[in-house]
Amino acid sequence: MAIKPVLRMGEPLLLQQASKVERFDTPELHALLKDMQDTMAHLNGAGLAAPQIGVSLQVVIFGFEKNQRYPDADEVPFTILINPRLTPLSEEKEDDWEGCLSVPGMRGIVPRYARLRYQGFDQYGKTIDRTVSGFHARVVQHECDHLQGILYPMRIKDFRSFGFTDVLFPGQALVDD
Ligand code: NI
Repeated sequence: MAIKPVLRMGEPLLLQQASKVERFDTPELHALLKDMQDTMAHLNGAGLAAPQIGVSLQVVIFGFEKNQRYPDADEVPFTILINPRLTPLSEEKEDDWEGCLSVPGMRGIVPRYARLRYQGFDQYGKTIDRTVSGFHARVVQHECDHLQGILYPMRIKDFRSFGFTDVLFPGQALVDD
């Protein structure tokens, strides 16, 4: 078990384009994924990208079980996604709240494509190809943005809907990513 420190906004590595994974099913890749899973679980995140723990590779994990900490969000199966490619299936976007482990204690309303196809690989090099919508689509877009050096505040259109979680949602305990 290795819980890694999560880099916070302001760290230059979070603004870098991450490199593609060239080899699958290696001890190094499995170790990275174990660190990412341990870190995400420890922090109750809904997703984590490798650059957030200081590794500039195109690796993200996400997954979310429906629970009272995030009452309006749909369940998302736990997924390991490597070298992802996202294709929006329409121009339609939806607004909703997001947070990020690299921007702790804050929330903002971010427009995201409502429906998209994502393709990539798991840790063994097996193809992943899914069409998703809603919260699942939102999480994928948020995590894959990290691989392009984009943090969600850079997507906010109206900064009046950006603020501290405990001020915006008093009395609620919410997951951070
Ligand atoms: Ni994030």
